[in-house]
Amino acid sequence: MTAQPARTGAPAVAGGGGAPRHVAIIMDGNGRWAKKRFLPRIAGHRAGVEAVRRTVETAPDLGIEVLTLYAFSSENWKRPADEVNDLMGLLKRYLQSEIDELDRNGVRIRYIGDPERLSADVRLLLDTSVARTAGNGKLTLVLALNYGSQDEIARAVRRLVADGVEPTIEAIEARLDTADLPPPDLIIRTSGEQRLSNFLMWQAAYAELIFTDDLWPDFDRAAFERAIAEYGRRERRFGGL
Ligand code: IPE
Ligand code: IPE
Ligand code: MG
Repeated sequence: MTAQPARTGAPAVAGGGGAPRHVAIIMDGNGRWAKKRFLPRIAGHRAGVEAVRRTVETAPDLGIEVLTLYAFSSENWKRPADEVNDLMGLLKRYLQSEIDELDRNGVRIRYIGDPERLSADVRLLLDTSVARTAGNGKLTLVLALNYGSQDEIARAVRRLVADGVEPTIEAIEARLDTADLPPPDLIIRTSGEQRLSNFLMWQAAYAELIFTDDLWPDFDRAAFERAIAEYGRRERRFGGL
């Protein structure tokens, strides 16, 4: 969409005007990246972790305050057990090996999703990382793990009912996993697929969406910068004029 001249009346918010505060990424295409190279899928996931490192490092340079990464969906349990184990193993190793540097770089770690189905060691590692980095303010890194929007909304509604509260938009939002986070301004999905796959469906109400053909392991600083520049050309109206 090309930038439109500002209209009179309620001011349109240029996507730009500044950087997106909150960027959420559907990191897709690891398997296809590996397949292209005749490698096992795990090799694609390993290369995907490198892309995560780069992206987390680049985000603050681009003015981003919150970066949410879709790492494992509530539907990804449907994959073969070996692949699920590989993914959980990579997550553990990422946190163990990166936590010192993340902490040093002022990254605050959070996670969204239902922790119930995660193994006790993954949960412990996540909770320790969250607690250790709670005071950091350079970038909030939100890991979506065993996350699905439908599940998140269902859990929020169950809490609402348990609390005996009137179901207003605010009351629902206050019970989502993202309660204390700003909504995503921009959602990026790599690998050419154009769907949300149960990611931040409530929160995406007014997010800008960018789909790129890069497979996730190939997503680099230049690709990230291109997406942010494209966001800057969008005009956000939020239903106004
Ligand atoms: C994304 O890559 C990583 C996760 C979903 C965890 P995929 O594993 O979905 O890769 P493709 O879509 O098969 O290429
Ligand atoms: C979405 O990718 C989930 C993550 C990136 C973690 P999938 O590869 O699971 O999505 P579908 O199955 O293609 O919709
Ligand atoms: Mg995929």
